[in-house]
Amino acid sequence: MAAAWNAIEERPTQTLEQLFAADQERVGKLSQRLEWTDTALGENAKQGILFDWSKTHLDDDLLDEFEELAKAADFTGLRASLLGGRRVNVTEDRPAEHTAQRGIGDEASVEEASALHERMKLLVEAIHGGALGEVRHCIHIGIGGSALGPAMALDALTRDLELVDVHVVSNIDGLALEQAFAACDPATTIIAVASKTFTTTETMTNAESALRWLGENGVDDPGGRVVALTASPDKAVEWGVDETRILPFAESVGGRYSLWSSIGFPVALAVGWDDFAAMLAGAKAMDEHFRDTDGRANLPLRAAFADRYYARIRKCQTRAVFAYDERLSLLPDYLQQLEMESNGKRVTIIRDEVDEPTAAITWGGVGTGAQHAVFQLLHQGTHLVPVDFIASIAPGDELDPAHHSILLMNCFAQGAALMKGGNMSASGDDPARAFPGDRPSATILCDDLDASTLGALIAFHEHRTFANAVLMGINPFDQFGVELGKKMAKEIESGGSDFDPSTTALLEAAGLG
Ligand code: F6P
Repeated sequence: MAAAWNAIEERPTQTLEQLFAADQERVGKLSQRLEWTDTALGENAKQGILFDWSKTHLDDDLLDEFEELAKAADFTGLRASLLGGRRVNVTEDRPAEHTAQRGIGDEASVEEASALHERMKLLVEAIHGGALGEVRHCIHIGIGGSALGPAMALDALTRDLELVDVHVVSNIDGLALEQAFAACDPATTIIAVASKTFTTTETMTNAESALRWLGENGVDDPGGRVVALTASPDKAVEWGVDETRILPFAESVGGRYSLWSSIGFPVALAVGWDDFAAMLAGAKAMDEHFRDTDGRANLPLRAAFADRYYARIRKCQTRAVFAYDERLSLLPDYLQQLEMESNGKRVTIIRDEVDEPTAAITWGGVGTGAQHAVFQLLHQGTHLVPVDFIASIAPGDELDPAHHSILLMNCFAQGAALMKGGNMSASGDDPARAFPGDRPSATILCDDLDASTLGALIAFHEHRTFANAVLMGINPFDQFGVELGKKMAKEIESGGSDFDPSTTALLEAAGLG
């Protein structure tokens, strides 16, 4: 890989303006549309997403070099290992089989996922049919990967239809749960306890409080209103959940990749099984593209080329994602875990220290609100921040079409302004009003934002994260970095006293010493 990186590092840097001037075909070469059949809309209904990297510094030569880097990193072999269900998570010695949930992967795993989906579908439909009495609300309790995916998908897909009103609660701060209680009628509420391990302190504490709340509010059999979503069904049984209401998923599905498994139960409950299946189908369309396409035409791989270029060559420590769509308000939060928990590492697969910045810090927000808050730094700050703009051609609202047109025009104008730069002063030379320009952005433009498109969009980011990891030689599927803090919290909880003076003083100040 060193030789490929040397070639990339030695290339002269060109500005975006120079790159556009040098190649009239640039937009065509750096843009690509993925189209698939959206079975939820009809047998021949098409959905598509246009990816435009022409406002990044990628060009033909750089892409040639990155393709060499991908070869040197054995991208093709590692992709086959991932999609073939081999043990790509080397530190935990297991596969990473989220794509099997969508029908792509090791045959036995695909079959198992499909059987578990069938079980989940039956339970969802039974609940809709009244098997647990009237169910109008669901409090979904989970944290990290057991909450961020469902919360984002619910937010995106339930804007105009909601069969069951779902509240996602993660934080151990009792206020979060109290807020959900205030919005739910206990007599018509079920509790979904989502935890891969079924041991996470926050989730189990919140689940116990939620059961108590049901009991204290007149529900005769609170335990009978719990559904467990977990890869540890034995632990759920031990905790007291009846087997008929346990929806298992495979241990080989990572937490932050688990929306597609039974962790997606609240989504299916809220939007119905057909839309949940459409989300899986959209993800599968992206999986097939990722599996079958080589080189720069592979969308997640090309995105990773840009990510690596900005992180390593241009020393960008962050990357920003701005969704110009209210329905994607929670996408930046979701991507933060996906990208930072996956690739925020410091050693390679063979335990060597990595010699480049790993995951950029992912941040972002929603346009146009973000424009009036943080875009100042993007345009004039000293940081170089590569931006992804994400938007939908079809509006999510039914108001005057002017709303959506203005939204999209703002989105495109920001990308253009970041690239072009200029000076806004009358004299044309006031540095306070100068915009340096040459600031990169990519635009991801969906035809519409339905369940299938959301699935494709998330799968795109999963594969992009994997491709980044391959180019760095790291394992994106473990997360040991969160363990030390958890251990120390447990030590404090169990009365340990061997802490640094600052922590000891804080514990005393809070009456916990
Ligand atoms: O602490 C991090 C983490 O392990 C995440 O990777 C995971 O998504 C989250 O905690 C929740 O874990 P669980 O689903 O087992 O409760």
